[in-house]
Amino acid sequence: LANNREIGIGLMGLGVVGTEVARTLLEKEHSISSKLGCTVRIKRILVRAPEKERRYVPADVVLTDGAEGLIDDPAIDIIVEVMGGEYPALEYVQRALRAGKHVVTANKEMMAKHGPEILTLAHEHSVSIRFEAGVGGGIPIIGPLLKDLLANDIYGISAIINGTTNYVLTKMGMEGLEFNDAVRQAQALGYAEADPAADVEGLDAAYKLAILASLAFHTKIHASDVYYEGITKLGPADFKYAAELGYAIKLLAIGRMEGTSIQVRVHPTLVPVEHPLASVCGVFNAVELEGDLVGQVMFSGQGAGGQPTASAVVGDVLDIARNIVSGSNPPAPLLLDGACTIQPMADLETQYYIRLLAVDEPGVMAQITTVLGDLKVSLASVIQKEIVQPEGFSEIVITTHTAKESAVQEAVQRMRSLGSVQEVSNLVRMLDGEG
Ligand SMILES: NC(=O)c1ccc[n+]([C@@H]2O[C@H](COP(=O)([O-])OP(=O)(O)OC[C@H]3O[C@@H](n4cnc5c(N)ncnc54)[C@H](OP(=O)(O)O)[C@@H]3O)[C@@H](O)[C@H]2O)c1
Repeated sequence: LANNREIGIGLMGLGVVGTEVARTLLEKEHSISSKLGCTVRIKRILVRAPEKERRYVPADVVLTDGAEGLIDDPAIDIIVEVMGGEYPALEYVQRALRAGKHVVTANKEMMAKHGPEILTLAHEHSVSIRFEAGVGGGIPIIGPLLKDLLANDIYGISAIINGTTNYVLTKMGMEGLEFNDAVRQAQALGYAEADPAADVEGLDAAYKLAILASLAFHTKIHASDVYYEGITKLGPADFKYAAELGYAIKLLAIGRMEGTSIQVRVHPTLVPVEHPLASVCGVFNAVELEGDLVGQVMFSGQGAGGQPTASAVVGDVLDIARNIVSGSNPPAPLLLDGACTIQPMADLETQYYIRLLAVDEPGVMAQITTVLGDLKVSLASVIQKEIVQPEGFSEIVITTHTAKESAVQEAVQRMRSLGSVQEVSNLVRMLDGEG
């Protein structure tokens, strides 16, 4: 198949990821052409500010702030979108697909909000759209879902897919840090953005789960279908009690398919220490899938960072380049027509951890167990500790057997109105037998 064909790349974005994509394509040009039998070369790069001083600019490549210079260039076969954000990325990608360019993107927000329409547009124009880097950075997960695991009915996803929050939670768990101090450390090391809101509030993980669950369950799942809750309410005490009970705390993205009902949720979760996800630490990511044939499979590695993400982006670029060289048509996209419904959170059934502050006097525990009993929430364990500050109070930590979310939320409201309960400090869902 070897020929001297040159595959032209239009790179949109020269930031953390774009820089490493450019460097990889340039530094590996010879090894790539010896593997593929063609040359893959960046023709133009789109940035916001072409005059800005940069740590790396590939020689002989034009930097421009006009997207049309890439989309309309007949020498460009593949657009690589690593700008980020919903707009104007969506508009540029749509224009590129309509112009007959293949597209590789790392943009989870765009794919989580507009994935199905983008896939359809690419198919209509007989071009490829690839987004391996959109979930889990360098970890191959989209490819396996689309190919290697296709024979399975996938019914479970349990994933740590945000490196920033996993770093923060690891620091809080291992060193007893307060949330804000752990975030500051993550920022100092470049693991958290100056504004970490999208990460710590769970939105970034929700985007990624929408993409994963759509492919795993063959159903259109929009970003807004995913319930998400961040890690900002967790305190050192939660990690201390979790450890005492035999759990780590992780921000999990959970997808479950039961019949025609789908759960998609992102929230802090107590994970049994012996579960493989409990030992995924620092900025590492891991995705565990459950399928009827394969059982449980776990993919793990670096979920972010310039080079790991460039690994996925350039992998997609090279796969498309091979198809261009061999004259293969892009495969039709998977049908995402599953007639499923998203289960309301109120109907979720799982185990719960509840931490509360109560007056240290006889009869308090009886009042709490009555509230729970009335709502058919049964206790699995109780820890009660006298605390020094504020004096006269004790901290009570309850774990429940599997119970309904609506009942547990109602129990929390009723506990809050008990005179003897000062505050319900936290409610964290647990990974029970489902994981
Ligand atoms: N960073 C990671 O570890 C990682 C991992 C997985 C996926 N991703 C995804 O990869 C994408 C890029 O992330 P990043 O961290 O590389 O971002 P970044 O460092 O902020 O870089 C963004 C680049 O895009 C350019 N850009 C942004 N908006 C533009 C616009 N409207 N017009 C023209 N150029 C524009 C910027 O130009 P200037 O340089 O002139 O400002 C910059 O070069 C995002 O979708 C992100 O979610 C990132």
